[in-house]
Amino acid sequence: MNIRLAVPVLLSLFPLAGSAEIRYVAARKLWHLQAGPVSYVIGVNEKNELQSMYWGKRLWRDDDLQAAHSNPEWASFDNSGNTTPQEYPGWGGGRYIEPCLKVTLPDGVRDLVLHYVSYTIDGNTLRIELKDIGYDLGVTLRYQVFPETGVIRKSALIRNGTRQPLTLESAQSGAWNLPRGEGYRLTYLSGRWAGEWQINREPVHPGMKVIESRRGSTSHQANPWFAIDEGQADEGHGRVWFGALGWSGNWRLSIEQTAHQQVRVTGGFNPFDFSYPLAPGQTLETPPFYAGFTDGGFGEASRILHRFERTEIMPGGVSARPRPVLYNSWEATEFAVNEEGQKALAAKAAKLGVERFVMDDGWFGARNNDHAGLGDWTVNRQKFPHGLGPLIDYVNSLGMDFGLWVEPEMVNPDSNLYRQHPDWAMHFPDRPRTEARNQLVLNMARDDVKNYIFEALDRLLVENPKIAFLKWDMNRNFSEPGWPEAPVAQQKELWVAYTRNVYDIMDRLRRKHPKLEIESCSGGGGRVDLGILSRTDEVWTSDNTDAFDRLRIQEGFSYAYTPKAMMAWVTDVPNFNGRSTPLQYRFLVAMMGSLGIGGNLNKWTDNDMALATRMVELYKSIRTTVQQGKLYRLFSPGAGTFSANEYVSEDGRQAVLFAFRSAQDFGYPPPVVRLSGLDGNAVYRVKTIDRKLAGSLDTVSGDFLMNRGIDLRLGGDFDSTLITFERVP
Ligand code: GLA
Repeated sequence: MNIRLAVPVLLSLFPLAGSAEIRYVAARKLWHLQAGPVSYVIGVNEKNELQSMYWGKRLWRDDDLQAAHSNPEWASFDNSGNTTPQEYPGWGGGRYIEPCLKVTLPDGVRDLVLHYVSYTIDGNTLRIELKDIGYDLGVTLRYQVFPETGVIRKSALIRNGTRQPLTLESAQSGAWNLPRGEGYRLTYLSGRWAGEWQINREPVHPGMKVIESRRGSTSHQANPWFAIDEGQADEGHGRVWFGALGWSGNWRLSIEQTAHQQVRVTGGFNPFDFSYPLAPGQTLETPPFYAGFTDGGFGEASRILHRFERTEIMPGGVSARPRPVLYNSWEATEFAVNEEGQKALAAKAAKLGVERFVMDDGWFGARNNDHAGLGDWTVNRQKFPHGLGPLIDYVNSLGMDFGLWVEPEMVNPDSNLYRQHPDWAMHFPDRPRTEARNQLVLNMARDDVKNYIFEALDRLLVENPKIAFLKWDMNRNFSEPGWPEAPVAQQKELWVAYTRNVYDIMDRLRRKHPKLEIESCSGGGGRVDLGILSRTDEVWTSDNTDAFDRLRIQEGFSYAYTPKAMMAWVTDVPNFNGRSTPLQYRFLVAMMGSLGIGGNLNKWTDNDMALATRMVELYKSIRTTVQQGKLYRLFSPGAGTFSANEYVSEDGRQAVLFAFRSAQDFGYPPPVVRLSGLDGNAVYRVKTIDRKLAGSLDTVSGDFLMNRGIDLRLGGDFDSTLITFERVP
């Protein structure tokens, strides 16, 4: 076989993870972005427009790629700007599709037609310059490819090169065009407080489906993630195009099917109430919009994102250590924290093998309930007469590190901060300020407010250098988003500047206190996205800690986000919804993510403590697999009373099966469980925690596990088990 033939054959035999290349094919004015298993192709057409040409499985032969050519108009009602897949369309030139950029120029012109100017390739990054056909309004499209996962990151830098100020009315990160056709299906996540991460699946029809947040932050109600398949994909099969925005402020994804069978997903800043003035020379950078492709179904789409988040998004990347087992005081003591009580809990937590003790709300200001204190980030001396030092030292002496809850963006009207600076809360002059949980939102867009909050948190960390972790909460969304001190034309910048400044505080704190870790919490899972995840080490999944509800909450979460980031607590029963489940069931549910304990340990029996100690120890032996391995969702908790997840370690040496029987059905045994992702030729040693595996399998082949499968003895309501499979060397 000659070398020219051998290359493609070899490429088709071996997975391409790890290789990436961006090539410009000058003869046909197109760029071929190859990233791992994915190809993405863009071209400049005969009208000098940037045209989307291909997004899917990796292609190897540039010669197959035709030059871009626009599609003809469709009668007099859709010109070719509507029939041709546009990579980054401006609103203008008779385009009715969702634009990526919409502007008003100072002379009143609202027509924007972006044409190609130039490009640069720098390693894994391609930059394409576009400019309006008349005005010096430029856009730099930045594409970065990630070789290991095939994920592509898009963002746009918009530049006002004119001599006049202009106003942006929509600034999107980019649009992803799918292969032309119909019959696509959209999967997205929605929810509410204590009910986040619900999976929705529906056909894509002509018209536009919008998922968004207008609340100032990411939101419980919708998450900036999407997956689109051709209507038949399942966990293990089928083409899936998926993506996620890295932005924790107002965002929007519009999933559009044009009248010309073109499905496109446009995402970026939410254009709702958006107005962003750009002075001459000024720029605006959009949030990053990440997307990937697989022909291995929803399971593989999630595994790609999990790996991408762990290696490219989360702090520390591949070298980040596994998440520690955490205890949190909230459900045990709520606001009634004090030195003695917290020490008693800490002593018990340490006995269980907990590695991090976190004191939640109630330690600061006049914070005895949720009516007062937010904004006053000084230690409450009645509860902690000697400051936090003695508690932190005690926690450290037990072998745990110490974490603390804060809610920096908020203020209670009953606080010293609000009494001193009532104007620091977001408001419109002479209008009511709508309270939620008795609190208002600080206008973090103001630099003086931002600096004050940075200094308050920094002081806390300087005075208590052993604080290892902050749980950063945000317990309400915006209302009356006014910024009366800013010039009227700039007041709507608040939507963008707020989030930028929150990011800035986190970034500065992390730089100054490099060992500090942060959890993103917003009344549960209200602020989880790839923007916040790039500066936090974990997220609080939901305030709903009922283990049965959690199965579905965690499943939805896992579509988009890695189990490593998914903080999950074991709490007491009956839960807030009245449901009681056994302690082992609660542990095993929480052990499918980053394990925490949030129950009132003072009330745990000796038996509870003994079981918990065993579970924590077991978790430590499997956590690398759970947090950093590959997740296979074998049986969905949304589909029946039996559910199961399997995690396989990156090196393939360990697999862990979690199985749950939430209710017994007429006494039927659970279905046969076939495992995934194992080496068929390898032999695995089987270990059960409670002998719920039928038969006497001691060692078993991967082929048997993946084809014959195993039978479990899970009978009663809320039954559960865990089985590990260690590869025999
Ligand atoms: C939010 C969080 C909880 C807890 C409380 C404290 O609801 O999600 O975990 O920290 O605030 O007030």
